[in-house]
Order: sequence, then structure tokens, then C-alpha cells
Amino acid sequence: MIKKALLTLTALSLLASTASARPWDEIKRSGTIKIATEGAFPPFNLMKGNQLTGFEVDLADALAKQLGLKVQWVTQPFDNLLIGLNQDRYDFVIASHGITPERSKAVDFANPHYCTGGAIVTKPGGPMTAEALKGKTVAVQVGTTYLENVSKVPGVGDVKTFPKDTDAQAALMAGRTDAWVGDKFTGLDLVKAQKGKLVQGDLLFKERIGMAVKKGNTTLLKELNAALAKALQNGTYAKISNQYFGQDVRCR
Ligand code: ARG
Repeated sequence: MIKKALLTLTALSLLASTASARPWDEIKRSGTIKIATEGAFPPFNLMKGNQLTGFEVDLADALAKQLGLKVQWVTQPFDNLLIGLNQDRYDFVIASHGITPERSKAVDFANPHYCTGGAIVTKPGGPMTAEALKGKTVAVQVGTTYLENVSKVPGVGDVKTFPKDTDAQAALMAGRTDAWVGDKFTGLDLVKAQKGKLVQGDLLFKERIGMAVKKGNTTLLKELNAALAKALQNGTYAKISNQYFGQDVRCR
């Protein structure tokens, strides 16, 4: 009896692990799309009290509305997001992922929903250029393009990684590192909020940011791209972008 129950469980979990990503018609039929983000990357995705908000949250909500779907949001640590996607825990991820060749081997990216770059932030008198990072300690969020790009700076000192970007910023504030490298728009907000205690240095690299679907989920990808194109064209995107950045951050 027990043996049989165990066998059934094993069979079920095998089935679950080989279940495929939900294609578009299945999502449409269910009426709800499951979207994952981090919820700790202002101003793109963050928690305000217990409310998930941010540029990407508003944008994805608008896209879902256009597609006639309700949204079920899921938050996960940044480093787990693409893994969970490939385990079919949600339909897509919107969490400021730069479209890189390496990530593109694991997932499929939609057309970019904004263009940005990684920039240095430091205290006045600190390193402002790639050159000046020689021998300096830098704080970055783990699993990011910031880590990848800062590690490539010739002669850079210790690169300290943090699970959350906000913790990497805090390390700079506390004087535990010489610089923080993160998104240029996040950096602008941070510098503004710290009123003279921090300055923004050079842009180290540029990147295009995209939503990710499970590799091979072409039907969902097509719908997301169509919804994004429509939002970019009908003013929906510009309105949300202006609200968060005072400018239109689309790729040009
Ligand atoms: N744009 C950077 C990257 O592609 C950072 C993304 C971080 N996103 C987040 N939700 N913490 O790696």
C-alpha cells in the first residue's frame, strides 16, 4: 500500500517536472497570466508597503490588460527568477534583465522594453571612471550584468556581491566599498535622495532590457511583443515612463 502511494508520488513529480510552459491559448483560456519579478529594484520593481509597484509592474499590468488577462504576481530573489521560469512556476519574468548572449541560451527574450546602462556611483572624491576603479572595491548585486562588466575592468579591486541591489547601495553608503555599480536611472534617484553625499560617475556599459519567457514559448512571446508594440505606439508606454522617469526610456 505504502509502496504504491510512493510510486504514484514519484510518477506525479516526474510528470510535473517535465510539464511544459503554458502556451498562449492555455493562458488565454485560463484568463490569468502569472508574472514574476523581484520587487526590490526601484524604480523598476519594488514593494511599497505590501504593494508591488514600479515601472515594470505598471507596464506589465498594462500589457496584460491589453491582452485581456488578469495578473497574478510572484516575487522571487533576482538570482532565482530565470531558474523558476524554466521550472514553469510562472509564464514570464519582467525584472530588468539585460538581453545577453548567455541568458539567451537559457530563455527567450521579448523585444526590449527599455534601454539603459550600468553606471558608477561613489562618494564625492571617489572613483568616477573605469580607469579610476583600479584597486578599488565595488559593490554590485549578484547575478547581474553589473557583476559581469565590473569584473572585466582591468585592475579592479575586490568586487563584493549582494543578494539585493539595495544592500549593495547600503554598503557604499556605509563606506564598506569605494563604489557601487548599478542601473543608471536607479543611480540618478539614489544620488538625488542622498543630497550631495553621492555622485554619479561614468556609464560603464549599455544594455537593452527585456521580458523573458521559457525557451521555446513562441506563442506567448509573440503576444507579448505585439502588446508591447501597441503600448509603445498608443501612448500607454510613454505615460508610464514619464511618470517614473520624467522621460521616455524606450530603446531608439
Ligand atoms: N540590468 C541588470 C541585469 O541585467 C540588473 C537587473 C537587476 N534586476 C533586479 N530586479 N534586481 O543584470
